Amino acid sequence: MPRLNVNIDHVATIRQARGGTEPDPVSAASLAELAGAKGIVVHLREDRRHAQVRDLEVLRKTVQTKLNMEMAPTNAMVNIAKKIKPEMATLVPEKRQELTTEGGLNVVKHFQKVKSTVNALKKAKIFVSLFIDPDLKQIEKSFETGAQMVEIHTGTYADAGSEKEREKELIKIEKAVDHALDIGLRVSAGHGLNYFNVEEVALIDGIEELNIGHSLISRAVLVGMDTAVRDMVVLCGE
Ligand code: PXP
Repeated sequence: MPRLNVNIDHVATIRQARGGTEPDPVSAASLAELAGAKGIVVHLREDRRHAQVRDLEVLRKTVQTKLNMEMAPTNAMVNIAKKIKPEMATLVPEKRQELTTEGGLNVVKHFQKVKSTVNALKKAKIFVSLFIDPDLKQIEKSFETGAQMVEIHTGTYADAGSEKEREKELIKIEKAVDHALDIGLRVSAGHGLNYFNVEEVALIDGIEELNIGHSLISRAVLVGMDTAVRDMVVLCGE
């Protein structure tokens, strides 16, 4: 059964709404860990709309489990990652106007850039994952970059408008996981997962980790971080 990693970006989103110091994503990370999260995920976006470099610096000192820095494959981000030294980095596509990460990284199209970013991060002893769509070609190219893991994008599954479409997307994810494992990649999954759709994904054999943010922080606003994380840990099957 997969481990739950909690993405705390939206705690920072609330803080940035007033530009002050609360709520602090660092406190949220500690509470998530105490409630059973096995990792903390932070996306440092180029426009700094939620997490700030300061958050990563403090989290680097306080996270007890594992820090996974999501980042675009750019030289500026690599330089920050090298200073922070998270256990893990996940490369994601980034567009300034998007509400959230829309779709996986196109490793086929941006192969050289992704490969050189993977190399630079691995040289700094950072474990690298690529966030990609459940597409066999993307998986093969991901392996060729030297990345150690792929995070399968579950957004299309999560947004499926009908039971039939949802089933179709779930099968795509299962096939992608099998193929990634077959060629020697480790596998995680995430995006759009919530308290109602996570169980079917958690049951797929071979997914080591689930990265969940929006639904979990939304629930935490109402019931508290501890309950929100504990309930999600149960649904992940731990
Ligand atoms: N995985 C990746 C690569 C992401 O970019 C995000 C969103 O920041 C997530 C997982 C979490 O998605 P959600 O907030 O929809 O749970």
